[in-house]
Amino acid sequence: MGGRLEGKVALVTGGAAGIGEGTVRRFVAEGARCMVVDLDEERGRTLADDLGSAAAFARADVTVEEDVASAVDRTVAELGRLDCMFNNAGILGAVGPIVGTSVEAWDTTLAVLLRSVFLGIKHAARVMIPQGSGTILSTASTAGVRAGLGPHAYTAAKHGVVGLTGSVAPELGRHGIRVNCIAPGGTVTAMTAYAAAGDPTATDAAYARIGSRSPLGRPGHVDDIAAAALFLASDDAAYVSGACLVVDAASEVHGAMVSRWFEADSELVGPFGSPPAPAGAG
Ligand SMILES: NC(=O)c1ccc[n+]([C@@H]2O[C@H](COP(=O)([O-])OP(=O)(O)OC[C@H]3O[C@@H](n4cnc5c(N)ncnc54)[C@H](O)[C@@H]3O)[C@@H](O)[C@H]2O)c1
Repeated sequence: MGGRLEGKVALVTGGAAGIGEGTVRRFVAEGARCMVVDLDEERGRTLADDLGSAAAFARADVTVEEDVASAVDRTVAELGRLDCMFNNAGILGAVGPIVGTSVEAWDTTLAVLLRSVFLGIKHAARVMIPQGSGTILSTASTAGVRAGLGPHAYTAAKHGVVGLTGSVAPELGRHGIRVNCIAPGGTVTAMTAYAAAGDPTATDAAYARIGSRSPLGRPGHVDDIAAAALFLASDDAAYVSGACLVVDAASEVHGAMVSRWFEADSELVGPFGSPPAPAGAG
């Protein structure tokens, strides 16, 4: 791999597993040093140990402001600076009908998926503004771009991530900081294994379910999302800010349910469709 992040320092929340772990590994392969931030101490420490001096681990709950602030401060103290903040930690959260959704489950879901992004942007900006540079990424979702692709609270929170990204980008742009988000479609991780089969280790079930709906004939992998994060974190994206990069192989935002209405071989005719061929034509 190349050195597209040579000399850079990144903090990745939810960095111990799934998309976060894949991104930490890719960033390190591209020359960055990473602070792995997660609630899962065992996995996070194992990953950091595996990567040697290129990584360190900080346990933090991304819903707690003091935890996020201290993870950012530790990154600057131990790794020297903060060039890229990746707000990625997440859970599926509350599922089921709106009438059965409790306020507690709603609030917990919104805290993990949206308050965390607010806190991550706020505290990254605190150290990046004096630096005059930096990139902030957050993991939204296709469920943050279109309704109907996730549970209600998840959908609301991820729409919030896309909105907050666009809202903050012009303000921080004046300080040389770019702010973007990524909207992955179904990606094979513990989260989708759980959604597909009620078992976070059932990645085969996630693979089959997501892959069967993808126009590219395979599901999304963490490396696909890590590659998008690398692009947005690197100087290749020097003029990209406020964006939401959809990474779904056209299977969700521009496919799936939409294509059911207008299949390529549909034969709609009449006042709202193609006019019928004139009698005797052909
Ligand atoms: N997998 C997908 O198909 C998919 C699609 C769209 C968006 N996403 C988003 O991608 C992100 C990563 O998801 P994933 O699929 O890699 O899931 P994952 O379960 O593999 O990893 C999530 C990580 O976040 C950590 N985490 C959870 N709550 C935390 C908290 N309060 N504080 C600190 N760490 C916490 C977990 O310990 C875990 O290591 C999430 O924001 C998710 O919503 C995933």
